[in-house]
Amino acid sequence: CGGGNVGQAPAPNNGGGSAPQAKEYVVGTDAAYAPFESETEKKEIVGFDIDLLKAVADKAGFKVKFVNTPWEGIFTALQNGERDMLISAITITDDRKKDMDFSDPYFEAKQLIAVSKDSKIAKFDDLKGKKVGVQTGTTGDEVVTKLLGKDSPDIKRFESTPLALKELQNGGVEAVVADNGVVINYVKNNTAQGFKMVDDPAFEKEYYGIAVKKGNTDVLNKVNDGLKKIKSDGTYDKIYEQYFGK
Ligand code: ARG
Repeated sequence: CGGGNVGQAPAPNNGGGSAPQAKEYVVGTDAAYAPFESETEKKEIVGFDIDLLKAVADKAGFKVKFVNTPWEGIFTALQNGERDMLISAITITDDRKKDMDFSDPYFEAKQLIAVSKDSKIAKFDDLKGKKVGVQTGTTGDEVVTKLLGKDSPDIKRFESTPLALKELQNGGVEAVVADNGVVINYVKNNTAQGFKMVDDPAFEKEYYGIAVKKGNTDVLNKVNDGLKKIKSDGTYDKIYEQYFGK
């Protein structure tokens, strides 16, 4: 009684149900970057990136399984095949493009500074001589490194952005530089702590992409196909509004 599968070995990653051909891809995400990806108390991974990729998978006919993957090992996990793709608010950069392939951009971002309400820091340049927290190996780390110098003792690097923000709260750093969506979300949700945001024209536009292993055009094409579909049928806008408003 194999049903429709008579004489056929069941596909290993076949979740069953309506799409027997659907392949399941293992997706790495550093789920400590709300509202893009975070983990609930029940260890459920949620966020804009998660809803977006689920919708992409749905339209393109594949399945996704999200696995929380620390940022510091995330690109290696893609390289060695432990993850089939990554969605983690990853900025497409020329440097990263040498090691992996990116989907079409799905989100525009830039850096933003978080400081305490009474801080005198009013522009990026004011960070000179101040202790600044960043998440190691992010584009926030890159811009601050450029400003203060690679070996500056004033740069405090953390393995996650929440840890950097905790340090801001504790007074161990005077500013944190991270992606605008995350900083806005944090300041909004921690009004009691009294933070404010500082923008600067020096920050360039960044674009997030979904990463696959270099040369994995099969998966990349599927992702781009799904992205196109959700952009044209209104699904993208719906998810966007849910997290960021109109
Ligand atoms: N967009 C920045 C970068 O690519 C930060 C991404 C951090 N993402 C995360 N889930 N922690 O470097």
